[in-house]
Amino acid sequence: MQKTLILLKPDAVQRRLVGEITRRFEQKGLRLAGLKLVQAPRELAEKHYAVHKGKPFYESLLTFLTSGPTVAMVWEGREAVAACRNLMGVTDGVKAGPGTVRGDLALSVQNNLVHGSDSPENAATEIALWFKPEDLVGYAITDSSWVG
Ligand code: PPS
Repeated sequence: MQKTLILLKPDAVQRRLVGEITRRFEQKGLRLAGLKLVQAPRELAEKHYAVHKGKPFYESLLTFLTSGPTVAMVWEGREAVAACRNLMGVTDGVKAGPGTVRGDLALSVQNNLVHGSDSPENAATEIALWFKPEDLVGYAITDSSWVG
């Protein structure tokens, strides 16, 4: 089964939306494989957003991600990367469709509540940044045959 990294960024924690957003991933049928609250140090934020280094918003992104605690989660399931990105909606909260996390709950491009890996390869890299292998838990969910 595919795994993906989801971050509930500092705005989600500050706005007390952790439960609301997590509920959506859980109810989709994905399986929670890892969960922790992290005050990200700058080095972690730099590694996480390394692909954006040099862009005009890079420093602002680092400041944002390190501004308060982030909930880091690993979700697992069939095409988990795509499934999660569909639930999240596009980057800009104004353009994100209704029914998505950002479409329903965000107005901003930067303060858009969630991060989700954009490919299985990047998911593996990002999961390794935020979690030790022993932090991830494998277990059976007895009704998984109903979900697919
Ligand atoms: S890009 O430029 O196409 O790579 O942008 P995108 O993949 O949509 O977004 C990558 C992350 O950068 C954040 N972002 C911004 N922050 C501040 N200002 C501006 N203009 C901006 N554009 C993009 C965006 O919130 C994405 O964060 P994550 O955590 O990866 O979703």
